[in-house]
Amino acid sequence: MTDKITLHDKTFVPYISNEELEKAIDKVAEKINADFADKSKKPVFLCVLNGAMMFTGEILKRCNFIAELMSIKMTSYEGTSSTGKVKVPMGLTGDVSGKDIIVIEDIVDTGNTIVALRDILLEKGAASVKICTMLTKPEVYKQSLPLDYVGMEIENRFIVGFGLDYDEIGRNLKDIYILEK
Ligand code: IMP
Ligand code: MG
Repeated sequence: MTDKITLHDKTFVPYISNEELEKAIDKVAEKINADFADKSKKPVFLCVLNGAMMFTGEILKRCNFIAELMSIKMTSYEGTSSTGKVKVPMGLTGDVSGKDIIVIEDIVDTGNTIVALRDILLEKGAASVKICTMLTKPEVYKQSLPLDYVGMEIENRFIVGFGLDYDEIGRNLKDIYILEK
């Protein structure tokens, strides 16, 4: 892991290594495999672009049942904080009606994004919705929607890497970095 990185005007320091992330993903995938092993219906993995792209790939590699893949693009962050408003610059790439959906998110923070997404999915007739997130910030998450599969819990600070960005850069870092105090 590189010592320090600079993105735009800010400095970030190492926080979670790729090795630790992969161990957490192994556990999450095991649970998903156990839950969906003997389902006759083929669920849909729904990647929330852009952040969850890398995590979705890791989950797909580990999943041992037949599933579909769809995407949607949602945004709520500007700079290092939530705007509180969720935008959908690109809608669902497929038909979810009657299907079991596993939402794949990079991080759940306030939960505004997944709550808005759950509403979209139910409105479009999804049969069920499960939430799978690589990371969550429990200090901030106050929604009643349960998080079915969680990789790791982190403190309420701004991070980048492994799909997560600071104003669109830093997504390609394979480890996670945290904003220097
Ligand atoms: P929420 O709607 O507040 O739960 O925020 C979820 C979205 O905000 C995630 O999908 C990320 O795109 C973004 N986000 C939340 N926390 C961070 C962070 O620490 N770094 C980068 N993006 C974040
Ligand atoms: Mg996101």
